[in-house]
Amino acid sequence: MVLFTMQEILHLTDISVKIGNIRFKNPILTASGTFGYGTEVDKITDVSKLGGIVTKSITLLPREGNPPPRIVETPSGMLNSIGLANIGVDKYIKEKIPLYSTIGTQIIMNIAGSTMDEYSDIVKKVESISSDIVGYEVNISCPNVKKGGMEFGVNCELTQKLTEKLKSITDRPLIVKLSPNVTDIAAIAQSAEEGGADAISAINTVVGMSIDLQTRKSNVSTKFSGLSGPAIRPIGIASVYRVFQSVNIPVIGIGGITNSKDVIEYMLAGALAVQIGTTNFRNPGIAVSIIDDLVSYSEQNNYNTLTDLVGAVL
Ligand code: DHB
Repeated sequence: MVLFTMQEILHLTDISVKIGNIRFKNPILTASGTFGYGTEVDKITDVSKLGGIVTKSITLLPREGNPPPRIVETPSGMLNSIGLANIGVDKYIKEKIPLYSTIGTQIIMNIAGSTMDEYSDIVKKVESISSDIVGYEVNISCPNVKKGGMEFGVNCELTQKLTEKLKSITDRPLIVKLSPNVTDIAAIAQSAEEGGADAISAINTVVGMSIDLQTRKSNVSTKFSGLSGPAIRPIGIASVYRVFQSVNIPVIGIGGITNSKDVIEYMLAGALAVQIGTTNFRNPGIAVSIIDDLVSYSEQNNYNTLTDLVGAVL
């Protein structure tokens, strides 16, 4: 007869989480656009400890992105308008995907397009090869391109149709990444769920602008850009809370997380997992330290699992 499980004897907390049919060893992922293709930082930090890595957005064709300046610091955050600079799906398949077989963590491929066909062509190409990608994050919330991106993310019908279309060509989990720049984020989340999304990630950047007093020009070449970092955390928390109340699929919280307390705050609001973004630019090892802190926190509180905290805000 087994009286105690190993976990009880050692007081270990199981911090793994399941999204779609994929189990992640912990709820800490790195956010798209802040961790390259996942293959650049393995000398700086132990990426195998991460719950997962979300790649920068991949488009059908390679993109140079927007002209500089495309990043500027702001109080407690930064503005960016990169414009989806990336190597394109063909080069991604040839040069990056093969490196994932030994990376030791789960890779979620973030995809972006300006038409539904562009999104689906990317997924078809990846599905036609054997790869270690565990799922897709569908970026319908890029504020920095003229066509596509946020056009989908502000429209319930397009969000549902795009999700349905992609769902019909892959069995891998689809995570739909939402924009906070909408009137009703919960309605968009419900449309993604109706389209078959396996999870929602929220939030992407908040549209912002800052101006140089000398030149009287925007500090970023495209005028408007996306605000990220601790400045947007309360917006992320409110959005996750709203989405969690309106859907039955997992919510992944993003926006301004810099430490394990921020992770717990997102969990209380309704996040099952989180993504660490802007703070990676200060310290690419921060996500791994957050995981260590989360484990200590759970053990100090004698939690067997963190999932009891999800949506537990009073
Ligand atoms: C970019 C910015 C985003 O917030 C995003 O979701 C995708 C891409 C960018 O400018 O490249």
